Amino acid sequence: RLPSRPRRLGALGLSPRSRFVQGGGPAAPVAWSAVSASPTEFHTSPGMRDILAPESNRWRRFVEVFESIVEPAGYRLIVPPMMEDAGVFKRVGEATDVVSKEMYEFTDLGGRHVALRPEQTASVCRAYVQHRPTTPWKAWYAGPNFRYEKPQRGRYRQFDQVGVEVLGVDDPYLDAEVIALGWRFFEALGLRRVELLVNSLGEPADRARYVEALRAYFTAHLDELTAESRQTLERNPLRVLDSKRAPDAPVIAGAPQLAEYLSKEAAAHFDAVREGLDALGIPYRVEPRLVRGLDYYLRTTFEFAGGTLDSAQNALGGGGRYDGLVEALGGPPTPGVGFALGVDRTLLACDDEGVFEPPVHTPDVFVVDTTGGLEALLVTEELRRAGYSADRAYDNRSMKAQMKAANRSGARVAVIIGEDERAAGTAVIRPLRGDGEQFAVPRSDLLTHLEAVLKP
Ligand code: HAM
Repeated sequence: RLPSRPRRLGALGLSPRSRFVQGGGPAAPVAWSAVSASPTEFHTSPGMRDILAPESNRWRRFVEVFESIVEPAGYRLIVPPMMEDAGVFKRVGEATDVVSKEMYEFTDLGGRHVALRPEQTASVCRAYVQHRPTTPWKAWYAGPNFRYEKPQRGRYRQFDQVGVEVLGVDDPYLDAEVIALGWRFFEALGLRRVELLVNSLGEPADRARYVEALRAYFTAHLDELTAESRQTLERNPLRVLDSKRAPDAPVIAGAPQLAEYLSKEAAAHFDAVREGLDALGIPYRVEPRLVRGLDYYLRTTFEFAGGTLDSAQNALGGGGRYDGLVEALGGPPTPGVGFALGVDRTLLACDDEGVFEPPVHTPDVFVVDTTGGLEALLVTEELRRAGYSADRAYDNRSMKAQMKAANRSGARVAVIIGEDERAAGTAVIRPLRGDGEQFAVPRSDLLTHLEAVLKP
């Protein structure tokens, strides 16, 4: 049962199958290593993926588009570490699954209890406490996060987010601005099937009263809840509202509504957020059951739901206010608001809607050299220094093989150097697209002639 695979690829640690591979554990069958005596072929861990080109180009472009929306709005990049004292994330709330069940935490070699970040809001607040920048502090970020979740389409154990956080501002119109940034970003990607859901969780006291009302209500209907929701109820009654399990739906439909528990101040704040969104012409739906998965939210919460995705993974992003988090991390009372968008998931939504295609990178010039390769080494260097992108073939392959590679590369022009050209001190310029004829030029004038061909 020897898998028929090119040995060379195997030897390089590359799998011919893996263009965009979802990690699934050790994929090399035992029989393969036993029979071939070659080393184990490692694959990514479950829920972790390699992002190869052209998808990786799209990934970078995604962040650039985000940057083009948030930088002009005064947000500046923060790059927090991917690993922190686990306590930083514990402050997000022990009742949060992300923290209590899904966090990658361990003791490092120095005996510190650390965790890979499951999100970045807590890190940004920790950075605020540590550096005390002047407020309003407007920060944006992009980078990976880690959650030990059950991997499936749109749900990974390592996933990227882009996001913004603003610290030190209470103003409800800022909430509207922050939400608008997310909305404008989706517009910039070309996504149309995104729905904005908003809600208010009230002040801490409102939220606490509501949680108790929910606990009482669900306890009275315990028999009608699924076993999973009964467990959730013990930890966090709010999260029961998030259940997507059909048998829970009727009980949840009859649950008390948060709006009835909002204080006057919280209701006024929420009214102003909606007024801001209305004024900006951003469509939204008030979703009284939107509680979000993290424990730090107060007052405004919101989510961007992707219309093409499975309901369990349809949140493209979300955020809200977390006015107590800085204090929980040892800082002064400081209001905060922000959001994060899932890159992986938003790109899936882009695929579904057929928008935001990966940018295709092709070289300007492909150098074909059948004289051994030294000419190609020199010419590609010369071209790159002159500002062109230039690629070449290696291993002194045949003219036919090199021309095939030239065509496959998508280059606009091939520069060909054979024995005759080398002897004559010339090079042949062959247009690879359109119907231009090839012609020979002195090597010393190559750049001038290429410029004429490439920048007509
Ligand atoms: P979150 O709702 O946990 O919020 O995550 C935000 C987004 O990250 C989700 O809507 C989703 O698109 C993406 N995401 C989360 N988990 C996964 C996963 N396992 N696989 C793929 N994508 C995922 C936060 O993280 C908050 N820090 C947002 C925030 C910022 N609130 C205030 N400021």
